[in-house]
Amino acid sequence: MQILAIVGAQWGDEGKGKITDLLGEKCDFVVRYQGGNNAGHTIIVGDKKIILHLIPSGILHPNTVSLIGHGVVFDPVAFKAELNEIEGLGVKVSPKNLKISENCTVITSYNKILDGQRESSSKTKIGTTGRGIGPAYEDKIGRRAIKVKDLLNKEVLEQKLRENLVEKESLFKNLYHCDYPSVEEEVERLYSLGQEIKPLMANTFGLLDTAIANNKKILFEGAQGVLLDIDYGSYPFVTSSNTSSGGIYNGAGLPGGRLNDVLGITKAYCTRVGAGPFPTELHDELGEHIQKKGGEFGATTGRVRRCGWLDIPLLKYSAKCANITSFALTKLDVLSDIETLKVCISYEYEGKTLDMAYPGLDLSKVKPVYKDLKPFHDDFIDNKVSPELKEFLDLIESETGIKIGILAYGPERSEIIFRQDFF
Ligand code: GDP
Ligand code: IMO
Ligand code: MG
Repeated sequence: MQILAIVGAQWGDEGKGKITDLLGEKCDFVVRYQGGNNAGHTIIVGDKKIILHLIPSGILHPNTVSLIGHGVVFDPVAFKAELNEIEGLGVKVSPKNLKISENCTVITSYNKILDGQRESSSKTKIGTTGRGIGPAYEDKIGRRAIKVKDLLNKEVLEQKLRENLVEKESLFKNLYHCDYPSVEEEVERLYSLGQEIKPLMANTFGLLDTAIANNKKILFEGAQGVLLDIDYGSYPFVTSSNTSSGGIYNGAGLPGGRLNDVLGITKAYCTRVGAGPFPTELHDELGEHIQKKGGEFGATTGRVRRCGWLDIPLLKYSAKCANITSFALTKLDVLSDIETLKVCISYEYEGKTLDMAYPGLDLSKVKPVYKDLKPFHDDFIDNKVSPELKEFLDLIESETGIKIGILAYGPERSEIIFRQDFF
């Protein structure tokens, strides 16, 4: 295999970081194509916990080059903090192993302020991460964004920021009554950060073009999950980018190449951070138990993740949206030893049975239909799978028509069973 995409098949936090780190070691490039530092991808190595937000999860491998593609919204302040943090943990970062597209959209202070103000004053709270992601993508689509290469030119920065502030200033002053930095302050701050990251700026599209032509191995690392995709997700409770594999073509580029496989990462149950419909959510002690046992706290904001049963109509839907060719099923250890095991296999909706979601389906109105399974009690020693667990895996495979290529049963690199070869 030459080109693999890893995407979240649920609402994010499925364990993409762990799998990307493991497979990234075998690749020449690991590439982020969308999202920003709203992502929180955790990698556990021994007693070290590394949480990556913007930097691709291939960075721990010295011979793998990490690329931040132009579809990513890039906060230079957050980037600097993350770089310092991982360097402090002994990770070596240089222009050789990390490159940032000159064409990424920059997240400005104004974007972050807007995100916070909207969340606190709006009636429909999305529960965003507050990182300025939505407002930065709005600037991009509105053709007024600051690009990473602009950080190197004070005149361009000043002119763009001044124009950019025209409308926002009236919101800050008249609607939100909040403080905001002057254009001069923002120019100085961004320019000085630009000087620091200058050596890492690159034409990442050109690098991918050459890499693909030379048969290099490439792994695209999705952030968030298909159900948070701006087009496929449970709108408006979504993030502002194309998280599905389609985002790769616009957000990084696949010049002359094609995805050989798309690995969809899914937990053995479901979680969601932030607001929005969640058909199989557990509002009881069991939900709390899964949340505690699974350590279900957001890696970016520390918020509690809502927990519920695995949802096949949504998993099937994600698989179709992203053209998923195999699954990695994570967090099996969390369900092991729980005395009930349910899987939602269809929905009742407006008097009909639905076995798969579709864009625009109002998930707050569907009634999940559950299948009860025998609970499994696996310790995963010697990679053995009990008959009860096999029944659970078989059900997922037969309902979705997609093979489970990876089983994960703990946060450590070693807590994994490969049932399929990647690279
Ligand atoms: P990502 O955003 O998809 O990369 O996932 P996060 O890192 O936000 O959240 C997944 C969490 O589960 C992290 O704390 C991982 O260390 C942890 N994790 C990953 N796989 C497993 C697993 O199979 N079992 C358990 N118990 N934890 C896991
Ligand atoms: P990773 O990559 C889980 C959620 C937020 C909110 C919605 C919009 O770690 O899986 P945003 O700040 O993007 O405008 O928030 O999306 N969200 C995530 N949930 N994991 C993530 O990233 C997320 N990134 C954003 O909670 O509901
Ligand atoms: Mg996460």
